[in-house]
Amino acid sequence: MEELKTHFLRTVEWKENKVIMIDQTKLPSSLEYVAYTDYNDVANAIKTLVVRGAPAIGVSGAFGMALAALQSSSKTKEDLLSDLEKAKKILFETRPTAVNLSWALEQIMQIAKQSETVSEIRNDVIVKARQMAEEDININKKMGKNGAVLFQDNDTIMTHCNAGALATVAYGTALGVIRATNESGKNIKVIATETRPIQQGSRLTAFELKHDGIDVSLIPDTAVGYTMANDLVNGVVVGADRVLHTGHVFNKIGTYQVATMAKQHNIPFYVAAPLSTFDLKSRPEDVIIEQRKSSEVTGIGDKKTAPDGIDVINPAFDMTPPELISGIITENGVVKPPFDESIKKLFEAKK
Ligand code: MRU
Repeated sequence: MEELKTHFLRTVEWKENKVIMIDQTKLPSSLEYVAYTDYNDVANAIKTLVVRGAPAIGVSGAFGMALAALQSSSKTKEDLLSDLEKAKKILFETRPTAVNLSWALEQIMQIAKQSETVSEIRNDVIVKARQMAEEDININKKMGKNGAVLFQDNDTIMTHCNAGALATVAYGTALGVIRATNESGKNIKVIATETRPIQQGSRLTAFELKHDGIDVSLIPDTAVGYTMANDLVNGVVVGADRVLHTGHVFNKIGTYQVATMAKQHNIPFYVAAPLSTFDLKSRPEDVIIEQRKSSEVTGIGDKKTAPDGIDVINPAFDMTPPELISGIITENGVVKPPFDESIKKLFEAKK
């Protein structure tokens, strides 16, 4: 396997009119890149988890729109906008829970509408998508600095799923906070949950942190209570797929269990999320939780671990209520409860 320093690892990037991404389904055993020139392939890559993680699928969606602009043979602005609307729908329908995807697609559509000519639209859409990718890294670095002050020297920090370089363009949200804490000179350890059924924790988080030389131990999801009850955890930081104005956080399945356990043991539980992950309009009951195929639960890899014909419930995300959350780390600061007030202030200050 190629040795890599994940600080410099680019999960997704635009190069010579192609979208290049790491094929995350192959990790950790091999680091392979795929290159797409068709937005339908980008949509398929999002659907099949070649690329995953809320900010990474947002930027991939934006790059998909840039490909659609290049692919279209339209000669008028109206026709090109209609082709872009078609691409937007296909990209949007890939995964329903992370709000970053619709946010990014909408940003691109707005830029396209403001441009005058067909060639200007193509150019402006590509420029905007590339800017969004660069901004993602800067935002993660800011979030990292804002979050690093919340952790102390010699802390052991638990994280769930993968909210790292591989879930963003680079650096990560929750793992960005962990990286920044480490870079600030504090000696920290990380506990990564395995994150069944797709094992983003063991395949991606453990892989990323190990390669960065950050002390990481892997636990089965079932050992969250044990590690907390035995004083092995000082704090938790996770990412988010969608944060509501009330502070309800949608993230990888199992996050709710980790947060509940943290509350039980008086361990601070933080969420790291850029402003593009906030959805100020929806109510908890409006958010669609992606349901994934049963084979992810009835087996591990090719090995069957359940009887044939068993009924399965396989939600990809769950909702953590605000009363379990100590703070939400953003690029513009850390918001604390009561979240309806602090999140309102955060967005008012942004205007
Ligand atoms: O199904 P996935 O792997 O896309 O789920 C990813 C997560 O739940 C992450 O925690 C979330 O997207 C935040 S990533 C910075």
